[in-house]
Amino acid sequence: MKALVLSGGAGTRLRPITHTSAKQLVPVANKPILFYGLEAIADAGITEVAIVVGDTENEIRQAVGDGSAFGLDITYIRQDAPLGLAHAVLIAREFLGDDDFVMFLGDNFVFGGINDPVDQFHKERPDAQLLLTRVPDPSAFGVAELDDQGRLLRLEEKPREPRSDLALVGVYLFGPAIHEAVRAIEPSARGELEITDAVQWLLERDRDVRTTIITGYWKDTGNAADILDVNRRLLDLLDRRVDGDVDEASEIVGRVRIEAGATIRRSRIVGPAIIGPGTVVEDSYIGPSTSIAENCEIRNSEIEFSIILRESGFDSIRRVEGSLVGRNVRVSMAPRLPATHRLVIGDHGQVQISS
Ligand code: G1P
Repeated sequence: MKALVLSGGAGTRLRPITHTSAKQLVPVANKPILFYGLEAIADAGITEVAIVVGDTENEIRQAVGDGSAFGLDITYIRQDAPLGLAHAVLIAREFLGDDDFVMFLGDNFVFGGINDPVDQFHKERPDAQLLLTRVPDPSAFGVAELDDQGRLLRLEEKPREPRSDLALVGVYLFGPAIHEAVRAIEPSARGELEITDAVQWLLERDRDVRTTIITGYWKDTGNAADILDVNRRLLDLLDRRVDGDVDEASEIVGRVRIEAGATIRRSRIVGPAIIGPGTVVEDSYIGPSTSIAENCEIRNSEIEFSIILRESGFDSIRRVEGSLVGRNVRVSMAPRLPATHRLVIGDHGQVQISS
């Protein structure tokens, strides 16, 4: 079995972070979201992987390389425009050959990995196996309708009036029949070749399409709130490890990871939280569900339930909460009088000020 990992897309709902970075490389618990997917693929015993890339190809290549760090053999396939998930299968035909494969969306997070569905697929060898999960907002996803016996009746991509609350999770297992389907379908209203339509095409031709309902945590990390939620869940699993330099005037409470090379002075850090290498925290409070990446400077500030990317600085700011902050950002106090806010914010930035 091979794997096809999709890492194109513009990430418009994650602007401005995605103006300068691929959405799949946004770190959660200080590791790019895409890496968790690659680890899950390696853990399922798959080694031959193609990553479909778009405009952010160079950045993804730089972060992932040839895959040897993951025990994977990775090739890259360029998708010149985001023409859909089924289009990605179309352009990967040569790489995939007639092998079974798992298609994994690089911005999806599946807790517990993919070993169970992969094992099940190996045993049953259907034409397609879909993972489903119940969601409160099905019209944002591909939606599956099942009959009383749990057999798949129909699939619809982002229906206005969903027939169930079962969303398609971004992990799909396919046999070679999918290639005929992706060649046969037409682009959807949003101009994409939808994988949902390709599987519906198989279904209408009585091919063997199966579904598994997963109950574990899954997230399509489309926006900042999703990313913060995945970060919180991951940090909840963290083991305490203090390798950095912590002075006696600091207090480290609970599951906190302080990486080697981090410096903590006169501060209180309440886990779960992670502080990256080279980061300095002074006279500050870092609260639960916070990931601070490498080489940041946090002075005289309070930060909670947030992700701060590398090389950013906070000086005399209280309190920051529910925030996703990019790389090389400076946040500091304005002069006391007049009481103003001074902002230099990138395109599509979002700021909420309490005053
Ligand atoms: C895609 C699929 C959709 C699926 C979702 C899962 O949506 O088209 O069926 O439910 O991924 O993340 P997109 O992210 O392209 O909007």
